[in-house]
Amino acid sequence: MTRPGDGGRRGRSDPTGGYYFGIYHWRRRLRALSVALVTGLVAVALRSTSRRPAVRCLSALAAVWAVSRFYRVGKRLSSPPPWVVERYKYDALAEALDLSGTERLLDVGCGTGRSTVALGSHLPPSATVLALDVFDDRVILGNGPALARRNGRLAGVDVVPVRGDASRLPIATGSQERITACRVLHDLPAERVAPALSELHRVCAPEGRVGILELPLTPDGVEDDPEHYWRERVLGAGFSIERLERVERSGEREPYIVLVAEPTLDG
Ligand SMILES: C[S@@+](CC[C@H](N)C(=O)[O-])C[C@H]1O[C@@H](n2cnc3c(N)ncnc32)[C@H](O)[C@@H]1O
Repeated sequence: MTRPGDGGRRGRSDPTGGYYFGIYHWRRRLRALSVALVTGLVAVALRSTSRRPAVRCLSALAAVWAVSRFYRVGKRLSSPPPWVVERYKYDALAEALDLSGTERLLDVGCGTGRSTVALGSHLPPSATVLALDVFDDRVILGNGPALARRNGRLAGVDVVPVRGDASRLPIATGSQERITACRVLHDLPAERVAPALSELHRVCAPEGRVGILELPLTPDGVEDDPEHYWRERVLGAGFSIERLERVERSGEREPYIVLVAEPTLDG
């Protein structure tokens, strides 16, 4: 298993600051913060107005729960902070995929450009990254092509944003030598995973490769071991698997999954 570190980055230096990648999973996390806040306020109000020992005891417990929940969700909301690239996982993918000499990379589900910036630093300076996303704010607050382009510019990476859906890629068949999908497939509804993977297969050049970086998660409603699930889905889309690695996640028990796949002729 690869361990987190800041190694692997070549060529370009980070700007002293200025990246902004937006806030991930903001709806779910802000909702959880609001629930904790309201619970805490109600608990404090009850405790200060009631004389009944049972109510005072329960409201004290509720207040403790609310404070701890608020702290944990608040920490997640800024993890990683919106200005941090957190490169180690992308570096592991870039190395497994071998991006040296790649002049064009298609980064599907690029969002505000975190993966694009990190992967782009492994490409030759003349390279272009097609940064494709639906560019709405369902997952990331502030998601949009302008932010992806701006973050790319700060990193010295030529980013061309493309608005599109992973399961209907506006990209020519067999045209891409290297394709990445970082932390995006688990966000799709389960029934859209197979269409998205067959689109990656369709646009991949015959000698090309697809690199997938996934959290240890499956789409909503799917009960399966994530590594087994993603492996089977990728094979089912007509790829052979060249590499499957685990990348330790800082502060978490379950690792990232890095998967490099090649299209088979009869896929
Ligand atoms: C968790 S973010 C990952 C962003 C970036 N790749 C990274 O590693 O930080 C998932 C991204 O997938 C995008 N996305 C979700 N469904 C998509 C779809 N059907 N087609 C293309 N992009 C999609 C979201 O808009 C979001 O930007």
